[in-house]
Amino acid sequence: MTTEKKFIVAIDQGTTSSRTIIFNHAGENVASGQLEHEQIFPHAGWVEHSPAEIWDNVRQTVGIALADAQINRHEVAAVGITNQRETTIIWDKNTGEAVYNAIVWQDTRSQDLVDRLAADGGPDRFRPIVGETLSTYASITKIMWILENVEGVRERAEAGDLLFGNPDTWLLWNMTGGVKGGVHVTDVTNASRTMLMDLKTLEWREDICEIAGIPMSMLPEIKSSSEVYGYGRKEGLLIDTPIAGILGDQQAATFGQACFQPGMAKNTYGTGCFMLMNTGTEPQMSENGLITTVCYRIGDQAPVYALEGSIAVTGSLIQWLRDNLEIVPTSPDVEALAASVDSNGGVYFVPAFSGLFAPHWRGDARGAIVGMTRYNTKAHIARAALEATAFQTREVLDAMEADSGVKLEELRVDGGMTANNLLMQFQADVLDTRVVLPEVAETTALGAAYAAGIAVGFWEGEQDVIDNWNEAKRWTPEMDAAERERLVRQWKKAVTKTLDWVD
Ligand code: G3P
Repeated sequence: MTTEKKFIVAIDQGTTSSRTIIFNHAGENVASGQLEHEQIFPHAGWVEHSPAEIWDNVRQTVGIALADAQINRHEVAAVGITNQRETTIIWDKNTGEAVYNAIVWQDTRSQDLVDRLAADGGPDRFRPIVGETLSTYASITKIMWILENVEGVRERAEAGDLLFGNPDTWLLWNMTGGVKGGVHVTDVTNASRTMLMDLKTLEWREDICEIAGIPMSMLPEIKSSSEVYGYGRKEGLLIDTPIAGILGDQQAATFGQACFQPGMAKNTYGTGCFMLMNTGTEPQMSENGLITTVCYRIGDQAPVYALEGSIAVTGSLIQWLRDNLEIVPTSPDVEALAASVDSNGGVYFVPAFSGLFAPHWRGDARGAIVGMTRYNTKAHIARAALEATAFQTREVLDAMEADSGVKLEELRVDGGMTANNLLMQFQADVLDTRVVLPEVAETTALGAAYAAGIAVGFWEGEQDVIDNWNEAKRWTPEMDAAERERLVRQWKKAVTKTLDWVD
């Protein structure tokens, strides 16, 4: 008996939660499961996750989603994986156990290692090869930190017993059998966030690994974003099902947003904000503080590159207002509180909690609320926190337009904060650009589903993605130019107050 393959399973392993979403051929979300995992903060600036908890949660969410859809693996054509990028896991291939917690992309503990690498040749020494300036963001110094600080790990790594991976690789290895023959693979987009891969050859750089003291035996094989990497293990719910797509979450969202033409861009509003602009089949180096990254590669087709503006803190600032200041009971309440005043009342909130990422790359910056007077209330702070997302996005867009020489007509948006109408209107106003939301807002999971589905012939190619993409809502700029420029000028002044803070 043959059962018709009607669905694709997408696993989205994000910073705060893991989700499984099941999509049909029209690219519609038919069922899902989601579980949050613990955020571990052992010291100021340190952020960790438990790799075992992440794997356990992912397995559970697959079960929840399959039960929700009332389907079994025989109806699943393929599985796609998308993930928080840079987050670093090292485990023992003989036991399957991680040697340390996952060091999360936001973690700044490796600043000393960044400084050590930069001492010989400056922070841009690897940039022409790997596309980014040295900072605590990429995987390279997180791997170094574990090798240099966790007892016995260097010896075990040199003996060939340890494997490195971002969450995509960790999940794929476990899903395909773990200690019983799991495949140790990543895709080009994730590899491009380690600072160990050559953007042109798409291979690991032996010289950079040597400088960093990273044994190359730890590194996964680099494959395209869309091909069959392996099949679900015997013990799991997805036995023998091809796992056929991997994309870093921001690249997956760019794919799911159908940004296939050079010059098209998307911005995802999650824990942080990540704007990617497709720049075509040649890597373009930024002169303005952006990262050059691989956007996707379908099988053996030419890779497509992107310029990326990564902002560390946007949605997590709203969580911080909720959890640390307790000025709103739930995150969505911030909109009503912010809307209860008609302006920021002169308050600017620069959330440099992990230093400042794009376009500044200042590890020495720390957060600041400036411009306050006795007149201000918590509503102004809430409004300033929301506006910070829009201002940071404006700085990234300015850098992108300067690098590409193109004035962006439309920004495609997705992610949780797009539900905030006040923010989206302010975003359009501050950018002076149309902001457009698609019908399927889970574009990250959708992008991974498309990559997997294309690999197994469930979808034919990018045209199917374009055909399935439909606009749900748009916001057009309404603010007058003088007001916009005044606000942006004040924001830039506020940013200067956060620099040089760390001794
Ligand atoms: O580079 C970090 C990014 O991939 C994390 O995305 O959506 O999990 O916050 P998100």
